[in-house]
Amino acid sequence: MVIRGGRVVSPDRIIEASVAIEGGHIVAVGHDDVMPAAREEVRADGLFLLPGAIDSHVHFRDPGYPHKETWKTGSAAAACGGVTTVFEMPNTNPPTGTVEALRIKLRAAESSYVDFGIHGLLGDDSVAHLEDLIDAGVTSFKAFVGNTFGNLPAPTDGALLEGFEKLAPLGIRTVVHAENSSIMARRQQQMEAAGRIDALAHLAARPAVAEIEAIGRVLTLAEWTGARVHIAHHSAADSLYLIRDAKRRGVDVTAETCPQYLLLNTNDMLRLGGIMRLNPPIREARHNQPLWDALMDGTIDMIATDHAPHTPEEKTRESIWACDCGFPGVETQMPLMLTEVNRQRATLMDYVRWSAVNPARAWGLYGTKGVIASGAHADIAFVDMARAGTLAQGRLQSISKISPWHGRAVQGFPVHTLLRGRFVMRDGQLVRDAAGWGRSVKTIQQMPAPRPRNTEHYSSAILKTPEGVRPNALPDEDVPR
Ligand code: DOR
Ligand code: ZN
Repeated sequence: MVIRGGRVVSPDRIIEASVAIEGGHIVAVGHDDVMPAAREEVRADGLFLLPGAIDSHVHFRDPGYPHKETWKTGSAAAACGGVTTVFEMPNTNPPTGTVEALRIKLRAAESSYVDFGIHGLLGDDSVAHLEDLIDAGVTSFKAFVGNTFGNLPAPTDGALLEGFEKLAPLGIRTVVHAENSSIMARRQQQMEAAGRIDALAHLAARPAVAEIEAIGRVLTLAEWTGARVHIAHHSAADSLYLIRDAKRRGVDVTAETCPQYLLLNTNDMLRLGGIMRLNPPIREARHNQPLWDALMDGTIDMIATDHAPHTPEEKTRESIWACDCGFPGVETQMPLMLTEVNRQRATLMDYVRWSAVNPARAWGLYGTKGVIASGAHADIAFVDMARAGTLAQGRLQSISKISPWHGRAVQGFPVHTLLRGRFVMRDGQLVRDAAGWGRSVKTIQQMPAPRPRNTEHYSSAILKTPEGVRPNALPDEDVPR
């Protein structure tokens, strides 16, 4: 296949170029004269060719909650949103903390329209089996340090440290939902006792300090162990300095924020109520611009969506405490962000850095994915920056047809999505027989292992008294050296 007439976007330039594809890989990018002969020509006049977006944070609910989403519907939403790779979260039922649960999920994922990674669960029970989960196919881990949908217990700090010690030498990154559960549980109890059922009570129960504290704690453990960590859905202006400082010190931390934290705030709450309930909460307007600035300066690396589908009934109950947290997002991210590009708040090159390049780097896929260049997978979002429209929840591929973005005017849409050389969305329509074309990125590329730091004292060896040391020996008593 040769794609002609489009403009190829990379983080540092936009060039008019043709793209040749063979066997699912890009084999040439450049002047039309040097393209090999093609069986199929695709015209992209007036369109921008972006590396397919990589969404590090989606919940496809399968197994456990197929009335909210399935792999087929969630990945269809991704395909129609210009997203070619997703990383899926472990708060399914059963949670992805055992090899058996992972196998069930991998079977469900066989219907996926897009490529995927699987975040395994890092919790107190699973920490002893992380290697087994890796061998069986997880790409990365997720620690629910803050409580959220699924009510998975937060790992103890001890388990988190142990998990990081084990994962550091392997170079495997852990996503952290960084909120302090104890602060939030107590606050929520007080709110409920006081009879608060309004949407703002949810925010009051999850103050920014809960995020600041949890990020600080996680970064301390990451720095100590040398583990790679990823801060999910960064929501607060006040905790950005922690990531900035940690990066300066060389901690391998990456961070994401989501369109909802950039573009919505408490002013939208009266209108949206439980529809915009999610964790961490959408905060006051003062947080929006600093989060945007943090993307611009690289403190926050990427845009993810926290695609968290629930049914309309589950989102519109009378008490805020009864509304499920989260909403769908994988399908609306690109038009929302492209609209901001059209408003000149960022360039298309910035956007590609946040949507594709940086996530590809964070998950060890760069070169294979995240870029339109020879040798890479032909994962391409064809984007029409002129096309304007209104987001409509009824038209979403997701089962969750309820969205805070419903009725929002946008300009800039993905019109075709190519995954490893095959269209999964064309002319705005899902290509239905591409279900099952997606596969695990685990089979694509292994991540390089970094050099671990303070992990030398962690191994099964610490559970044994060193040879020659008498139990209860006094310090400096004749202990052989
Ligand atoms: O609001 C949320 N919903 N935040 C999360 O972190 C999880 C998600 C879900 O799974 O519904
Ligand atoms: Zn989430």
